[in-house]
This record gives sequence, C-alpha cells and structure tokens, in this order.
Amino acid sequence: MRVPLIAGNWKMHTTIAEAVQLVVAMRDDLEAVRGVEIVLCPPFVSLYPLYELLRGGPLRLGAQNIDYRDFGAVTGEIAARMVAPICSMVILGHSERRRYFGESDQVVNWKVKAALAAGLHPIVCVGEQLEENEAGATAAVVERQVRAALAGVTDLRRIVIAYEPVWAIGTGRAAHGPQANATIGWIRHLLRDRFGPAAAEETRILYGGSVTPDNIAEFVAQPEIDGALVGGASLRAADFVAICRTTADLRVPKELLEGR
Ligand code: PGA
Repeated sequence: MRVPLIAGNWKMHTTIAEAVQLVVAMRDDLEAVRGVEIVLCPPFVSLYPLYELLRGGPLRLGAQNIDYRDFGAVTGEIAARMVAPICSMVILGHSERRRYFGESDQVVNWKVKAALAAGLHPIVCVGEQLEENEAGATAAVVERQVRAALAGVTDLRRIVIAYEPVWAIGTGRAAHGPQANATIGWIRHLLRDRFGPAAAEETRILYGGSVTPDNIAEFVAQPEIDGALVGGASLRAADFVAICRTTADLRVPKELLEGR
C-alpha cells in the first residue's frame, strides 16, 4: 500500500520569521494526522530554522530546487549535498522553473540524478500547458517529460511524481478528479513499462494545481492519486491542516486513525 503524501510548496513566500510562525501555527495539528506523510517546502533560507524546529518530529522538509552540479563555481546556486543533511525531499521540474528559468527536460533529468546521488527524494513535476491540453496532447507531453526526467534512473524507490497541469496551477481552476486520475494512471502505465509492475505500484504519484480543502477529497478519493502538491493553500495553516486530515480520512485505514 502506498503511503499518501501531501507536500506544501511555499514558493517564494514567507520571510524566515513568517515561515517559523506558519509552522508553529500548524505543527501540532499536522503532527496529529496519522498515516499521511507531510512535507513542507519553504524557501531555502527557511530550511535550516525549520529543520531545527521540526527535528525529531514526523513532519518532513523539502527544498524547492537544487542545482545539478556538485560544489563549485556556480554563483547563486545550491547543491543537492548542501540541502541533503536538513531535508529529505526536493521539488524538481516545477512548471515555474521550466517557464521562468528555462529548465529543459534534460536539466530536470540532471537534477533528478543529482538529488538521488545526494540521498534526496525528488518530487518530479510534469504537466501540460493549456494549449497542449486543448490540442489533446496531454498524454504525449506527460510521456515525454516522464521519460526524459527518468532517463538513466534505475531505481524508482525514492522518486515521487507530481502531475500538475500548468493551466491548473495558481488559477483556481483545478482539474477534475477523474481527469487527473486518468493522466496519473497513464503515468503509472509508463512507469510499469519502464521499471516493471512492482516498482510502478509502489511509486507515489500526486496531483497538483489549485488544491484546496474543498476539492482535495475529489482527488484523493481516486485510486491512482496518492496525495497532492499544494501551493497557495499550503500557506494557510487551517487549509493545509484540513487538506491533510481529509487525505487521512479517505486514504488511511480506520485502525490507524483512532486516537487522532
Ligand atoms: P497551487 O500551486 O496549489 O497554488 O495551484 C501548486 C503548485 O504549483 O505546486
């Protein structure tokens, strides 16, 4: 059985003080949610303070990016080995990185390999643009992105995939549950093809794009969807807690939930 995962992508929001405040506001409630892996992905400068705050607890931390190179003369960048001691995951290939920083499928692949080599768990983002969706090209786009991101990767165990249709990110226009389920089912099929049925069955694939407490149930009730990558709503403590609780209610066996 796949453990559901909810990741909060804070993007370029929160000062260090605000990041600490946000975590303090939701930590107890999040820690009380059983059976769901919860990951907070604040900006780089807040990783260390939050690491100190959350050390020893169940909440995990993730970075929002890394460079694919090892230590070296690369002004302004952060290497995988720098964040690996203080976080467990890293978001890679997010559509905002692809769009604003020109990250190609090739760069995403290098980053995935760098993350794996440093012991991080990559959350690899894929998803089609609106025009591609309208042209019926979703399956082809996602296939290209998944195959490219995982080229040369031999072990899926630390990989999480997030399907985020670009038109749904930050727009308030989420995909429909069955629609997202179909594309995520397609991604699982691609994984099966490349890595075999057991590895594909064990890999978590998330939905992302305008997830809120009101629509999370629509996604996690789907058999292929193992959780969500949450942007805007992850910055509101009550909303993020509600998203995690609903996921637990729908996806975690009752015995585990008792005592919540
Ligand atoms: P959103 O962002 O939830 O604000 O749409 C999701 C994401 O970009 O990961």
